[in-house]
Amino acid sequence: MITSFLDNINNNSTAVSLNRLNTENKEKNEQYFTPLSVASFMSSMFKPQDKSAIRFLDAGAGLGNLTASFISTVCKWENKPQKIRAVLYEIDSTLIPGLNKNMELAKEFCENNNIELEVTIINQDYIDSCINDINSEDSKNLFDYILLNPPYKKMGTNQRHKQSLMKIGIDVPNFYAAFVALSYRLLNKKAQLVCIIPRSFCNGQYFKAFRKDLTTKVKMEKLHVFDSRKNIFKDDVLQETLIMYLSRNKQNANDRIEVTQSVKDEFSEIITIQKSFEEVVFPNDPENLIRIIKDEDTTIVERMHNLNCVLKDLNISVSTGPIVDFREHPSLLSHEGNIWSLPIIYPENFVAGFVKWPIFGKKPGFILESESNINKLREPGIYVLVKRMSSKEERKRVVAAIYNSEKTSQRKVAFNNNLNYFHVNFSSLDNLNLARGLSLYLNSSLVDNYFRTFSGSTQVNVGDLKSLKYPSLKQLEFLGTQYDEKLPSQERIDHIIDNILFFS
Ligand SMILES: C[S@@+](CC[C@H](N)C(=O)[O-])C[C@H]1O[C@@H](n2cnc3c(N)ncnc32)[C@H](O)[C@@H]1O
Repeated sequence: MITSFLDNINNNSTAVSLNRLNTENKEKNEQYFTPLSVASFMSSMFKPQDKSAIRFLDAGAGLGNLTASFISTVCKWENKPQKIRAVLYEIDSTLIPGLNKNMELAKEFCENNNIELEVTIINQDYIDSCINDINSEDSKNLFDYILLNPPYKKMGTNQRHKQSLMKIGIDVPNFYAAFVALSYRLLNKKAQLVCIIPRSFCNGQYFKAFRKDLTTKVKMEKLHVFDSRKNIFKDDVLQETLIMYLSRNKQNANDRIEVTQSVKDEFSEIITIQKSFEEVVFPNDPENLIRIIKDEDTTIVERMHNLNCVLKDLNISVSTGPIVDFREHPSLLSHEGNIWSLPIIYPENFVAGFVKWPIFGKKPGFILESESNINKLREPGIYVLVKRMSSKEERKRVVAAIYNSEKTSQRKVAFNNNLNYFHVNFSSLDNLNLARGLSLYLNSSLVDNYFRTFSGSTQVNVGDLKSLKYPSLKQLEFLGTQYDEKLPSQERIDHIIDNILFFS
């Protein structure tokens, strides 16, 4: 009976979705509906509560896939409640008829299971309404269960939503974080929230305030990650997705967190790892990074933490390339240089661990100095560069190369914005062995695997590079003596790192 209820929901939702392919509303409101297999997995995380009536929230409900799966899960509980009060927010009025239809099926299904289902569909902006509810401090607005697959879009600094959220102490860069932060404020005692969101909040400056809020206001009990780069929503979002189970409790350092990972097609094979909270969010980590460290990665984390230095100790800094090529006046950029031209460097210039310039491709390789860009150009010398974005196909996320003006041009250089560059006071590292050692270290599997414990995206931010531990200057210089003109193979790099840094 449960299968046929969810089958009917699936048929309705699929029919509506197919009719709406490429509609303006689909794009605007980011309507990627949760497949019912995923929704059911999410609902199965909830623990039953001994209550005769429960209040449930689905914010950004779409066609109600999450609500339907929640209801079908509750109907399987041994101790079922007599009543479910479900509140569903959906901003897009064109989805409301489909949502109503699915909720009629849900009511019928509940009736057959001796549960009364009361559904309130609110065709309004969830953020605005929720802020009002939080401000009213009325406990009638609280929920026992919240299930979310929120919209993902960015929130501009001047946007109305951003400003009203800041007024109630919520500082978030986008809608999904806003939906989650607002919703956990509406949790009743013992209440639980499950959400499916991109993993991007686990690291990065933009989400720092959100991570702090999350880790101090609610208790993280379970995390589920999908096999990396697998796309469960069949869209083009280049982002790992995560399911998170939160409860309205205080978090302690030694609380257990169950981390699960789908190995194959969604949920047919799952690996479970037990972690303590302090293994997920390290104590004294000012960034509050949320790390998913699989058992096979424990040695990696231990090794990284055994290294002695942070970047500051090396007197080295890392910044994002200051030139944005498409914002430069077109007359300043060219494919062919003249005697005044300077190199402009892109990830495309990386060849076997060194910058090759000029190369002749789609990007203009030459830039002219002008009043508008003079402060963004860097002195000639030696720099270590790291790509800011690896492509989906690339095996590694952290890819480094050395820029050496001796091999390119003795004039100033422009690092494009899709690169990060290591420097000393915005100038050359002035030490080729140090640069070679730093680049070798950054290109190691140790760094790449460590990076993956806290980042689920293909982007490498300056903050991520600052959060790594580094070998000492002496060790880096010695690493730099291990190769000359060409970065060694991955196997060789890892062997050198093992031998020199860990004596193994
Ligand atoms: C990613 S979809 C997920 C839909 C549904 N929760 C599911 O899992 O199938 C997000 C939904 O949020 C809705 N939405 C977007 N912005 C909203 C807002 N400010 N208030 C309420 N709903 C919103 C969209 O129209 C869309 O249906």
